[in-house]
Amino acid sequence: MNRYDTEFKRERIDTRMLSGSDEDIEIAAGIIKSKGLVAFPTETVYGLGADGMDENAVKKIYAAKGRPADNPLILHIADKKSAFQICKNVGIKAQKLMDEFWPGPLTLVLSARDDVPLTVRGGLDTVGVRMPDNEIALKLISAANTPIAAPSANISGSPSPTNAVHVMDDMKGKIEAVIDGGECSRGLESTVVIATEEEELIIARPGYITKENIEDVTGYEVKYHDSLVNMHLENDVINPSSPGMKYRHYAPKAEMILFSGSGENIEQAMKKYSEHVKNTGGKVGIIPLRDTLDEQARNFFKDLRELDKEGVDVILARDVEKAGVGFALMNRMIKSAGYRIIYVDEE
Ligand code: TXA
Ligand code: MG
Repeated sequence: MNRYDTEFKRERIDTRMLSGSDEDIEIAAGIIKSKGLVAFPTETVYGLGADGMDENAVKKIYAAKGRPADNPLILHIADKKSAFQICKNVGIKAQKLMDEFWPGPLTLVLSARDDVPLTVRGGLDTVGVRMPDNEIALKLISAANTPIAAPSANISGSPSPTNAVHVMDDMKGKIEAVIDGGECSRGLESTVVIATEEEELIIARPGYITKENIEDVTGYEVKYHDSLVNMHLENDVINPSSPGMKYRHYAPKAEMILFSGSGENIEQAMKKYSEHVKNTGGKVGIIPLRDTLDEQARNFFKDLRELDKEGVDVILARDVEKAGVGFALMNRMIKSAGYRIIYVDEE
């Protein structure tokens, strides 16, 4: 696979921590204008931003992350009309989704206009667009006066960053600046909906905005991509329609194991597994149980990163109901676990 790691790898950079003040946002916008990299908060996760209309600036993103060149980036915009400067053949349904859910954690994949760099699109003729629901992000995009290409601001394959410290842990020395906007309010990446065909809306990556949310609000039928229908199977390696699907994702340094089944059996099975790991000299970490599903989702990536910092060898997690944001959380947990799932109710 073609990578930009060698060609666009740069000397170690002194990474600045900026605040969300208007003054600092101007500094950050200046960095984007001069084709540098700035990580910034969104409501989902922190993004690693560059001028989305500049081929060479975008290549620096791939190099900093170690991201495969065929995994396309999302263009972030500050108003709906910008979508029409980036995309063509925007259908009625796509427009309705923009009206209802933007700004918000929804990315639309649409046909790209010719001047959107191929690097942003990973060579495809489509492009992902999203208007984030975060004041700092919106101000930065406006001040930079360009769509900002931004993947999650983590090293490729590791858990997404949900605060500025996470970004520093992965990107210090590789990017010009990070804007500290505190903790992300959602903590999981946006829902990606393929909306290139007017007849068909397809969820390629689940997120906080669910299939049911979209159907209820718009009355349109929404389908899951095949890979999400049986997502406990490792079948999204086959025929990925969203290029990101075929790569390892969200993986902590420790080995993660997901326990699936009824509550009591899970607690027992986790206890037994913990003892087994400890007896063989290993250190175990357990993803804490939060009060609500929203909180469980908001903290998941953070929990993974904290357990890694504690130096655990194995991370154990309980499954959640695949309803509401639980569907997206399960999608992330299954991948973080590298499909290592123990079904505790089966003898
Ligand atoms: O919430 C988010 O979406 C965050 C914040 C920073 O906005 N961004 C993010 O970007 O998660 P990234 O690059 O980590 O994930 C983008 C996903 C990938 O799965 C990618 O394959 C898919 O969107 N994607 C982007 N453009 C696409 C396209 N043209 N066709 C199909 N899938 C696309
Ligand atoms: Mg990512």
